[in-house]
Formats: sequence, structure tokens, C-alpha cells
Amino acid sequence: MKLCESTQVPEGGRLVVEAGGKTLGIFRVDGQLYGYENTCPHQGGPVCQGTLLPRVVEGPAFDPADPHIVCPWHGFEFSIKTGCHAATDQYRLTPVPLEESAGVIHIRVIQQIDIRTDTREILANARRDIDHYRLNDYFIVDVDSHHVELDSWGEILEYIDNPVLRRTGQEMARNWPFAKNLALSNHPPGLTFQDVAGRIPHMAQLGEFVEPVVGEHRDRTLIRRAMESMGINVQVVFPQPMLEVGLHPSPDVEAQLILAYNRWFADRILASEPNVKSMLALPFGNPAACLDIIREFAGKPGVVGFLVTSQRNAPLWQPEYLEIYRELEQRGLPLGFHAGPDYAMGKLMNRFISVHSISFVTCNMVHMTNWIMNGLPEKFPKLKVIWIESGLAWLPFMMQRLDHEFLMRQSEAPSLKRLPSEYMRDMFYTSQPMERTNLKQLGLG
Ligand code: FES
Repeated sequence: MKLCESTQVPEGGRLVVEAGGKTLGIFRVDGQLYGYENTCPHQGGPVCQGTLLPRVVEGPAFDPADPHIVCPWHGFEFSIKTGCHAATDQYRLTPVPLEESAGVIHIRVIQQIDIRTDTREILANARRDIDHYRLNDYFIVDVDSHHVELDSWGEILEYIDNPVLRRTGQEMARNWPFAKNLALSNHPPGLTFQDVAGRIPHMAQLGEFVEPVVGEHRDRTLIRRAMESMGINVQVVFPQPMLEVGLHPSPDVEAQLILAYNRWFADRILASEPNVKSMLALPFGNPAACLDIIREFAGKPGVVGFLVTSQRNAPLWQPEYLEIYRELEQRGLPLGFHAGPDYAMGKLMNRFISVHSISFVTCNMVHMTNWIMNGLPEKFPKLKVIWIESGLAWLPFMMQRLDHEFLMRQSEAPSLKRLPSEYMRDMFYTSQPMERTNLKQLGLG
């Protein structure tokens, strides 16, 4: 079966086609053709539509002899010559035997994914899985998704309460072109490695075209596109760069930015989209402002709880925070701790991969330890606590470690009436990142 003309796949080139009900990627390296199914062995992403890059070797330097394709969903990187993941042959692309021939029978040429690709195309493989796994038979709640607030930053600045700070932010955005999407924020754009150095392009920007819909914000349309593509019924949405705001040097700016974002999100998204929910961030640099935010937003459409942005400059066991926890407990609202990368915590590390590996867990390990050892589960027994985006693998280690210490040093944590692990069993956890890689290390493979 012929898929395309030979000239459509020049040396170093790639073509993605639909044929025979499948999507295939065709590559040419050193004159030889390689074909793979466009389904990533990690979680089914459209791997052949990813970024083409040579392998990176220590230096760092590119090795042009070993071209790679990078999956645009989470950055798994595969050698085109072998189809194997760059680090292990446990993950392989599914090869497709190819012969060069004349004639064209493919249905549609598919483009490489970039910042302008439509969300529905990026998630086409996920949409296909809705039927395969019969996801519509289930009611699916995604408890941790992210809205990238940068594209709407100008609108969010308008919501800043304090007129002086609002003007400062707006002038900064107007006069400093590169501050347009993050004026007043402490997000360090020069250290933006989250997108795996451009290998996961849609993380950097959702530049896709969105036909304006009267009465519907563009970001709401984009959230809905993602939900429909993955068969999700309800999505709990958080901001993204703003989750670093607990490290902001100014508690006043932290409080004003969080209030502005919460008001913007409640007005522009939550008020009109019943299937989108949020746990709104609290500015713990200013405990009084936390209470004001809880009292302003509790009970509003879509507000299902409140959030600690876990990368913080200050611990959360101090007495000035107790009123916040009491208020949440009395209202029956949960408190989430959302993890993230923290260069300060990882100051002995020289690579983002190291910071990302460790600090998504260590920031919640610190809060968890403080929470338990300071007796907060006893002080607020009805307050539901949720640990978000640290995965699950750290929990057995923490249970054993905290119990071990507690049995030796019980007098330092006298308010506890049970073992730390027993309190941990009463808490809630989200499972992402999906810890599906190398499960043998967890005794599960
Ligand atoms: S689906 Fe490809 S990297 Fe996760």
C-alpha cells in the first residue's frame, strides 16, 4: 500500500498520514525509511507529531547521527532509528513496515504539533480512547488540571483591588513588552524548563485559533475542548505559573494577585461553566487576606475548596494560621496542597530535571510532616486535607518514617493520639503524576 510520494519524505524529514484507519509517522534517516504508529507507548500521545531533535549528549551537545522524535504530551523521547526510548528499551514505538512506491492513497496529511495546533488534534488519540475504554460509561472527575493564565494576564491585572498596584502592573505590562503576560508575578520566565526545552510546545502557549463565541471566554472554550477530548465530566482547574506565588517576595503583592486571579476566574469561567470547579489559592503570606478570600468565595459557583500553593517561604504550622483552618473546617471545605518545582528547596541541584524530580514531593513532605507533628489533625479533625500532584509513591516511605520517629520521640509531638500513618490514612491524595513508569521499583511490575 502506498502512502505518499518518496519526495514527500526527504532526508531528515517526516510525514504523518492517516491510512487504513491508523495514523502513521514516516521518517527518513541516512536514506532509510522508518515508520511508526502515531501512538506513544507511555499514555497514547501522538508521538509522531512531536518535535524532531537530535539526541542530546553530555556537554551538552546534539548528536546529529541519532535523530529523535519527542512525544508532545509528556516529553518521552524516542530514537527514530531504533524506535526505543532514549533511556530504556522498555518503551518502544510500534514499527510499521514500509516500502517505497508510487501513488498516493493517504486521506489527510497531519502537521507537526506546535503552539498553534488545535487542542482537539493534540488530544485526538485520547478521544479515540474514549470509545476503546468506554469512558462514557463512567462519571470522570479530573481533580488536577491547569489553566495557563498568561494569555489572560491583562484581564487579570484589571481585577487587582488596590489602585496603586493595579496601575503599577498595567504600566509594567504596557511599557515592558516581555512583562505583558506576567507583570508583578514572580514567575521566572528565564527558567521556564517545564516544556522540556520546547519539546512539549503546547505547554508554552495555547496559540490555536478559537472562533469567538458571544458570552464565552476563550479560555472556557479551550477548557471545554480538552474535557470533551478526554471524556471528562467535571474538571477541577488551577492556575499554572501562579502556583509559584507562595515564593513571592512581597506578601502584599501575593495577596493582591491571588485575589485578582480568584475574582477573574470566578467571574469569567466558574460563573458560566458548571462542569468546571476550582480550589482557589489562599495568600498565606497574609493570614487576614486568606480569611477574607474564604468568606468572599465560599459558596460561589464552582468553588469546591481552597488551596495552599506548596512552594512557600514560610511554614504553615504557626498560630496565625489556625483561624484559617478553623474557618474551613466549620464550612466543611477541604484544604488542598498543590506541589510544584522549587529552586530554593533544590538549591544544591544544577538541573531542572533534578529540581522537578525532588521538589514536587519534598514540598508536600515538609507540609505533611509539619501538619502531623504539630497536631493539626487533632485540632481540626473534620478538616479534609488533599495532597495534589505529588503522586502516591512517597506515601509508604512517609508513613514508615514518621511512625519510626514518632515512636522514638513521642514527647515532641504530644498532641498526637495515633500513629502518624493513621492520620495519613484519613487524608486524600491525587494520583498524578501517573506513576506508571518502572513499576517494578515500587514492587508492582
Ligand atoms: S503519552 Fe507520550 S510521553 Fe506520555
